Amino acid sequence: MRKTIFTICMATFLFSCNQNNKRITTLENQIKAIEKELNDTYKPGFGITMSNIQLHHSKLWFAGLNQNWELAEFEIHEIKERFDDIEKYQEDKKETEMITMIKPFLDSLDKTIEEKDINKFKINYGSLTNTCNRCHKVNNHEFIEIKIPDFKSISNQIFKK
Ligand code: HEC
Repeated sequence: MRKTIFTICMATFLFSCNQNNKRITTLENQIKAIEKELNDTYKPGFGITMSNIQLHHSKLWFAGLNQNWELAEFEIHEIKERFDDIEKYQEDKKETEMITMIKPFLDSLDKTIEEKDINKFKINYGSLTNTCNRCHKVNNHEFIEIKIPDFKSISNQIFKK
């Protein structure tokens, strides 16, 4: 989209050299229309993406507990992708920069899933959860406290392999 705007700007410049005012006005209107379209594009918000991460965080626990490693692998990748989405769509927010703090914990949990190690999984899942809360705390959202789930809130999916 940026490339398109750049191309249109270049085109605008060249036309202005030719003093082709009518064409300039048309192009200006086109730019305005593109800008409006860009502003109106749906961008998933921070909070809504976090709610989705919460869901996958919960599913990940029950996948791991049931040693359904294929599902666990899927769930952790969903979490990683959602953090990538925040970096992409909420790049202007200061909190977004802090996503780097959770990446090593996601990677080490991912590794224990690959190793199919239930004990390490439990420990690393705890560390990941603590990091969720650490970020909430430094961003004045300490009232959003994540914990290891007690029971499955999702009843319409089988976690046991
Ligand atoms: C980079 C910092 C950061 C990390 C890491 C982080 N969060 Fe968040 N989280 C936030 C911020 C900031 C908000 C408040 C968002 C808002 O203003 O809507 C939030 C909000 C939430 C919410 C509330 C969403 C709602 O609208 O009800 C949940 C649930 C949540 N986070 C879960 C998690 C989980 C689970 C993890 C770990 C896997 C995690 N978060 C990791 C920064 C973070």
